[in-house]
Amino acid sequence: MQRSAAASYKQNSFSKQKVDGEDFIQTDVCPKAGDVVLDLGCGTGELSAYLAELVGAEGKVIGVDPDKERIRVARESHRGIKNLSFTEGSASSFFRMDSNAYDIVFCNAAFHWMPEKQQIFNDMFSSLKAGGKIGINYLDSLPPFEFNAYMLLNPENAERICNEMYHCESKTKIEHYCLSSGFQIVKHYEFCAPFVFESIEGLLEWHWSTTHGVFDLSLITEERLQKYLAPYVGENGEPCLDFRGIKEESTVYRLTAVKQAANALLKTLE
Ligand SMILES: C[S@@+](CC[C@H](N)C(=O)[O-])C[C@H]1O[C@@H](n2cnc3c(N)ncnc32)[C@H](O)[C@@H]1O
Repeated sequence: MQRSAAASYKQNSFSKQKVDGEDFIQTDVCPKAGDVVLDLGCGTGELSAYLAELVGAEGKVIGVDPDKERIRVARESHRGIKNLSFTEGSASSFFRMDSNAYDIVFCNAAFHWMPEKQQIFNDMFSSLKAGGKIGINYLDSLPPFEFNAYMLLNPENAERICNEMYHCESKTKIEHYCLSSGFQIVKHYEFCAPFVFESIEGLLEWHWSTTHGVFDLSLITEERLQKYLAPYVGENGEPCLDFRGIKEESTVYRLTAVKQAANALLKTLE
C-alpha cells in the first residue's frame, strides 16, 4: 500500500462521509454567514472546507483532529481557504481553551471514536455562544460489515479496534448526556448512510484507512476473506457491497441540539 492511511481516508471519504455530512449540514445544521464553527474530529477536512464556504468570509471554521497525518493532509489540501484553519488536538484537551467561542460545534462520523462523552457534551456546552448549536452524526454500534471485518479478518487486532478505538453508545445514553449538559434537543433521528463499495479491494482499503492503518491488510488470508464475504454473496456468486438501506449495516444517528440563550430559557420556564 503506497498511500498513507490519511491520504486513503481522504479519497475514500468523498463518497461516504462527505455525501452524508453535506446532507446533514444542509438539512439540520444550517450554518449562517458569519458563523464561527468548530469541526470536531475533522479528519482530512473535506467538510470543514464545505462549512467554510457556507459561513463565508465573515465567518470562520476551525478543524480539530488528533491524527497528525490527517491534519497535515487537511492543511495541504485546503491551504488557499482564508477562513479555515486546522489544529491537532482531541476532544478531551481542545475545549478547555475556549468558552462562549462558537456558534456551531459540528462532529461528523467522529463522536463514536471518542470516550468520556458526558465530559465532551459539557465542554461543547461551555464552548458555545448562547443560542449556539451542536450537530453530531454518529454510530450507536458498529455495522456488521465493519465489526465482522475486524473479528474475522483481523482477530489479532480486533480487541484493540473494537474496544479501545471505537466508543459507540446507544441513542438513549447519548440523549441523556446531551440533556444533562443543559442542551435542548432539536432533532435526533436515524438516517441511512451511503455505505457502498465498488470492489472488495475498496472495502478492505476502507477498513485500513478508517482505522488509521491499524486494520492490517497483511493478516487477511483467502480463507478468512471467504468467510467474511459469505453473507454478501448473491446468486451470481459475486458479493454485493451496497449496504444502503439495510438497517443494521447503514444506520447512523443525527443529533442537533441548542444551548438556549438565557432569555429564551426563561420564557420556556414561564
Ligand atoms: C471517520 S473520521 C471522520 C472525519 C471527518 N469528520 C469526516 O466526516 O470525514 C473520524 C475522525 O475522528 C477523529 N477522532 C478520533 N478520536 C478523537 C477525539 N478524541 N477527539 C477528536 N477527534 C477524534 C479521528 O482522528 C478521525 O479523523
